[in-house]
Amino acid sequence: MTKASPIPSPNDFTSDRTLVRRYLDQLDLPVTISEKEKTSVLCEIKQLILKKNAKLVTHYYTDSSLQELAETTGGFVGDSLEMARFGRDCDADLLIVAGVKFMGETAKILSPLKKVLMPTLEATCSLDIACPSDKFSDFCARNSEREVVVYANTSAAVKAQADWVVTSSIAVDLVEHLKDLGKKILWAPDKHLGSYVQKKTRADMLIWDAACIVHEEFKFRGIQDMKAVYPDAAVLAHPESPDSVLQIADLVGSTTQIINAANELPNNDFIVATDRGIFHKLRLAAPNKNFLVAPTAGDDATCRSCASCPWMSMNSLRRIAESLREEKNEVIVEEELVEKAMIPLKKMLNFAENNRLVVKGKA
Ligand code: 13P
Ligand code: SF4
Repeated sequence: MTKASPIPSPNDFTSDRTLVRRYLDQLDLPVTISEKEKTSVLCEIKQLILKKNAKLVTHYYTDSSLQELAETTGGFVGDSLEMARFGRDCDADLLIVAGVKFMGETAKILSPLKKVLMPTLEATCSLDIACPSDKFSDFCARNSEREVVVYANTSAAVKAQADWVVTSSIAVDLVEHLKDLGKKILWAPDKHLGSYVQKKTRADMLIWDAACIVHEEFKFRGIQDMKAVYPDAAVLAHPESPDSVLQIADLVGSTTQIINAANELPNNDFIVATDRGIFHKLRLAAPNKNFLVAPTAGDDATCRSCASCPWMSMNSLRRIAESLREEKNEVIVEEELVEKAMIPLKKMLNFAENNRLVVKGKA
């Protein structure tokens, strides 16, 4: 068995947290709209979707009204892997991707002939921000003997330098596969997902230092206290959460795997450590079960997000209508990057298609 390299010191190739803070300070969150306006905006979007042969592709973290709209207009709601697959396979001329920037870029890279719009181009991700392409190139150059595996939550320029892209739903399986081939891994950017994968596979992994500002805030102590009140509750956690949280989780998985587990596990109560946008689907999947947001308060708590991704919250019905009407906020990816980033993205989709995933709960 190969011995894992220690996680390098933050000074080595650290994420830039001040940069993340700057992005957060500039957030332009949508204002709420009246029921009357909502009805007319929905009507306009539906007409535009038909007229332009468009599909709305949304993530589970977006507002429930966007998720409902996607499903009632022949679009899609899913985790980041499934969004990529749907975007690639559907026969639309235009995709409108409601999520964050890397999801729009992924859709464009996999479907260069489709026009890809987003409700806003400002919705990014702390993992993407904290892994700039130039610093990442240095990291790769200094470790050129390693297989480069990057999380989907990265820019096209970072993906273009990777051997593989993974999402949380296939990260363990893919690294296991690479380890069986005798490969050493260079992993970026999420340190929590990276160390979770490393623990599960015991692969030799060198891990970048960045985190999701939403999942990083879930607290082991708070979840433990909640379990004392709900002793039969199962804990469902996204692997971007800290190790202490993952250790008490009954299920660690992608957003879709979390929803499947809520349906399949026998428990009635669930403590959920991921963005609260997922509660819409959880309640639809298991209407008689009780879902609780995992606590983010406690020692060291800052609650910058409180289980709600600030960038996902930037997506709104009004912004979808504006983008579709004016065909604005188009995702443009340089041709050279499309060609390079398409390779590891296609490898990811092929790998996922050849390896059906099973949800493994321990409750
Ligand atoms: P999923 O791939 O599980 O949808 O996760 C994407 C994400 O950004 C989670 O924070
Ligand atoms: Fe990025 Fe975290 Fe938001 Fe997901 S929840 S998009 S990882 S900041």
